[in-house]
Amino acid sequence: MAADGNVGRTHVVTHLPGDGVGPEVTDVARACVDAVAVRHGFVIDWRSCDLGGRHYLATGEVLPDPVLAELRRCDAVLLGAVGTPDVPPGVLERGLLLRLRFELDLYVNLRPSKLRPGVAGPVLPGTGGKHQPSDLDFVIVRENTEGLYAGAGGTVHRGSEFETATEESLNTRAGVQRCVQYAASLAASRSGRLTLVHKTNVLTHAGDLWHRVAREVAADAGVELSYAHVDAACLWMVDDPKRFDVIVTDNLFGDIISDLGAALTGGLGYAPSGNLNPDRTGPSIFEPVHGSAPDIAGKGLANPAGAVLSAALMLAHLGEDAAAAELDDAVSAVLEAGAPASTGEWEKALLTHLSADRGLAS
Ligand code: NAD
Ligand code: IPM
Ligand code: MN
Repeated sequence: MAADGNVGRTHVVTHLPGDGVGPEVTDVARACVDAVAVRHGFVIDWRSCDLGGRHYLATGEVLPDPVLAELRRCDAVLLGAVGTPDVPPGVLERGLLLRLRFELDLYVNLRPSKLRPGVAGPVLPGTGGKHQPSDLDFVIVRENTEGLYAGAGGTVHRGSEFETATEESLNTRAGVQRCVQYAASLAASRSGRLTLVHKTNVLTHAGDLWHRVAREVAADAGVELSYAHVDAACLWMVDDPKRFDVIVTDNLFGDIISDLGAALTGGLGYAPSGNLNPDRTGPSIFEPVHGSAPDIAGKGLANPAGAVLSAALMLAHLGEDAAAAELDDAVSAVLEAGAPASTGEWEKALLTHLSADRGLAS
C-alpha cells in the first residue's frame, strides 16, 4: 500500500544529463527519485535525451526540432548541465538552454536558497556572520523568458574601431505580470512578504514597469510588497538575509543573485532550480543552478544535492508532494550527519536514508 493517494500514477520524465558533472549528479537524483517513487506508489517512465556539448561536437546538432517535439510530450525534464570548454560560448547556452526556456514558455525560474543545518556558510557565527541557518530561507522567482536574455540586439561595423554591440532588455507588461503573479501567490502561501529586486533608480524604463506591475499584483494578491535595489539586495542577502522571503526579479538580476544565494547556502553544488511553465501548457525543466563544472568533471567530487533538490521540485510540480518532501528531508538529514565528501558517498547516504523504514509502508 502506498503512503499517499497517488497509487498507480506514471509520470513521463526525460533525463537530459548533458555534459561534465551533469550525468554524475543527475544519476544520483534519478536513483533517489526512483527510491521515493517506490515508497509512494508511483512510477517514473524515464526517457533519455542526449544533447549538449559532446553531442554537438559529434553531430553538429544543438536542439533538433524533432527532439524538441518529443520533449514537449513528456511531463517534465530533469537536466544536468550543458557546456564544454571546446564549444564556443553561446552555442549551447542560447541554442539549447535558452531555446528550451523560450519555446516551452518556462517563464518562471524558481530558485530556493535555504541554509540547511550542518552546512557551513558565511552568514553563520564562526565565519564572520551573526545569523542562524533558519535566518536564510528565501526563494528567488526569476523571470525566465525576457529581459537581457531575449536576444534583442546585434553588432554593426564589426571589426572596425567603431564596432558597436548592443543587448537590449525586453520587458513586456504581460511577461512581467505573469511572473510577479506567480511570485505573489508563492508569497501568499509562505510569509505573505514579497520583495521586488531591480535597479529602478537607473533602469528607469524597465524598472518603472516592473514596480507599477508589482504594486498592482501585490495589492490584488493581498501580499506585502517591499523593494530593494539589486546592489543593496546583495548586501542584505549576506548581512540581513531574514528580510527576504520571496524575491521577484528580472532575468539577469535573478541569474546573478541566485549564485550569491548558492554561495550563502553552501555553494553552487547545493542550489536547485525549476524552470516552470506554471500554465502547464508543456513540461517544466528542473536542473541544478550550477553548470557542467569542467574543472571537477569525472573526478567523483561533484555535489549532487542541487540536482536531488531540483528533482524534489520536479516531484512537487508533478503533484507528488509527499515524495518531494521526503527527498528534500533526505538531503537535510544527510547534511545533519555531516556533509559527504564525494558524489558516491552522497548517493550511498541518500539511498540509505530513503530506504530506511520510518513508518511509511513501501
Ligand atoms: P559552473 O557552475 O560549472 O562551475 C563554477 C564553479 O562551481 C566551479 O569551480 C565548479 O567546480 C563548482 N561547481 C559547480 N557545480 C558543482 C557541484 N555540483 N559540486 C561541486 N562544485 C561545483 O560554472 P562555469 O564554470 O562558469 O561554467 C561551466 C560551463 O557550464 C559553461 O559552459 C557554462 O555556460 C555552463 N553552464 C551551464 C548551466 C546549465 O546547464 N544550466 C549553468 C551554468 C553554467
Ligand atoms: C543558469 C545559467 C544559464 C543562465 C546559462 C548557462 C544560460 O547561468 O541557469 O543560471 O544564465 O540562465
Ligand atoms: Mn547562472
